[in-house]
Parts: sequence; structure tokens; C-alpha cells
Amino acid sequence: MNELEVHLDADDLARALRADVTAGLTDEPKWLPPKWFYDARGSELFELITELPEYYPTRCERQILTDRAPEIARHTRATALLELGSGYSTKTRLLLDALTAEGTLSTFVPMDVSPTALEAAAEQITADFPGLRVHNIVGDLTRHLKHLPAEGNRLIAFLGGTIGNLIPAERRTFFEDVRSVLEPGEHLLLGTDLVKSPSVVVPAYDDAQGVTAEFNRNVLRVLNGSLGADFDLDGFAHVALWDPEQEWIEMRLRARWPMRVTIPGVGLEVGFAAGEEIRTEVSAKFRREGVERELAEAGFALDHWWTDRDGLFAVSLARAI
Ligand code: SAH
Ligand code: AVI
Repeated sequence: MNELEVHLDADDLARALRADVTAGLTDEPKWLPPKWFYDARGSELFELITELPEYYPTRCERQILTDRAPEIARHTRATALLELGSGYSTKTRLLLDALTAEGTLSTFVPMDVSPTALEAAAEQITADFPGLRVHNIVGDLTRHLKHLPAEGNRLIAFLGGTIGNLIPAERRTFFEDVRSVLEPGEHLLLGTDLVKSPSVVVPAYDDAQGVTAEFNRNVLRVLNGSLGADFDLDGFAHVALWDPEQEWIEMRLRARWPMRVTIPGVGLEVGFAAGEEIRTEVSAKFRREGVERELAEAGFALDHWWTDRDGLFAVSLARAI
């Protein structure tokens, strides 16, 4: 069974995009939230990123889930798997397999801002898991968690290290929101990329084939398509910088020459000096102490902390207390 629940229709998305673009591009320095990368093309580009030799997080998380999915299923005995920022739900199949083998799972609820990614994933998953109820939610994980289903013994999965794309204040609110959705004894499975040498992390965000650069510039394509903007994509260089104090990667788009961009959808004309940048994403990297502390502050106990064999990425299994 394949169902669809929409909390962000085309009008809501257009309204939210207009608000973010107005706030971000009139600010100093300029910024745009990363969720606008993920139109159909952006979601496909992200899938290509996950296969790049430099982009280790997906491979590491897959290794952990391959090793630990049966243990996760035994520990949680979840009847409903709720996945936030699910995208194509590629690695999630490992959890679906294990929870099906455990005999507890009846419902899968992926939530994403990208309807195209949800649709593609649901088609495959309903075909491969015929007895499973798949309830897709088009929604924003910073606004719509209250619409997650309340019944069953729930496991919320937030994979890929996407938690690192929230800025710290958003992250705190997010953990509190997730905790308030869950009953004591229910679980959160969280993927976090770990702090490591910039010589490993920077190439993961600045690959030799330029796929990440295309993904980064895709946000300008989204603004051109949705708001009638006239960004010249060739006029912006892809930048990936390691910030050693914040312990995060910042992706930016740097204007190669001075320009004025008109954005009719929000009635703005935006000037760029040569070298001026738009921050398009932060991707925070974590340490065990920090993850454990942030989870505890929101009301979670850390039941398990697993890393891949090289210690690059971690998956935490936390219990609502
Ligand atoms: N979980 C997958 C995909 C990660 S890519 C994996 O581990 O590979 C990040 C996903 O989060 C994208 O599908 C994007 O559309 C979604 N996303 C980003 N911001 C979001 C938000 N605010 N609300 C809901 N989904 C969001
Ligand atoms: C989805 N998210 C965890 C990715 C990351 O690594 O921060 C998005 C991404 N940005 C550039 N490459 C991949």
C-alpha cells in the first residue's frame, strides 16, 4: 500500500522559498538554506555525490547499517519506521530488511521536502516490500514533525549526516521536536559524520569531477526556474571551506565578477561584488561527547554508538526517556 500526505504543496513551497530568498539574499553576508538544493535535479545530483570516490559518508554509514541492522531491529522491535530527509531511502532498505526479518514492522513513513525523491523511492519500496504500508509525507522536518503518525512502537531514522546541515539553534529545536513526538522507550537512529582531517573532509565536498560544484550551483538554477531570476551559473565558483572552530564545512558560491541579479518572484535586484559569497550549506562534523550531550539535553539516552572500521562516521541509537 502506497499513500501520500502533503504538508508542502507547490504554493507552500513557493511561499517558503520566497521568504528564504528575501531573508538570505538581503542579509550580510548572504546565505540560502540548503533545503533548496533538492529539486528533482538536485536530488539526482546528491545520489551521484553518494557514489563519488571522495564522498565517504554514504559508504561508511552503509557499512555500519549492514553490520548493525539486525541488532537495531532486535533492540527496537519497531512496528513503524519513520525516516526524515529520506531522499531515495537507499540505505534504509537495510533497516526495512532487518525489521521485516524480525517480524515487527508494518509501516514505513518517509518524510522529505522533495516529492520526486519520495515518489521514486516509494515505487521501488512498495514493489520490494509487498506487505508493507508505505505512507509518504511531503514535509519540512523543521516544521512538520507533529504530523508524523502517533501509533505503534516507532523508530525515527535520520540518516546521512543531514543533522549536520542544520545550524546549531535549528539542531537544538529539531532534537527537542523529535523527542516531543516520541513516547518514552521509542527510539531515534541518527547518522553523524565525524570530525577528521581536513585532507579527507574537504575533497568530499570538492570532488575532482565537479559533481558537488554542480549540486551547489543547482540552488541558483532553482531560483532561476522558480522565481524567474537571472543568475549566470558560470559567474559563481564553488567553494568548500573547513572551519576548524565550528568544526563544519561551509559550502559557498563566490561571484567571479561584479554583477546585478534580478529576482522578479520576490521583486529584488541583488548586487554582488567580485569575490562576494553566498553561504549555501554548513555540514557539521561531530564528536561522540557532543552528540551524547545534545541528545541528553533533549531527553534521550544513548543506547548504542557504532562507527565504521575507519572511524569516519557514526550511527547512534538513542532511546526517549
Ligand atoms: N537520507 C538520505 C538522503 C540525504 S540528502 C541519505 O542518507 O542518503 C538530504 C535529504 O534531506 C534530501 O532528500 C532533502 O530533500 C532532504 N531535506 C533537506 N532539508 C529538509 C527539510 N528541511 N525537511 C525535509 N527534508 C529535507
Ligand atoms: C545531505 N547532507 C548530509 C550532505 C552533506 O554531506 O552535508 C549534503 C552534501 N553537500 C555537499 N555534498 C553533500
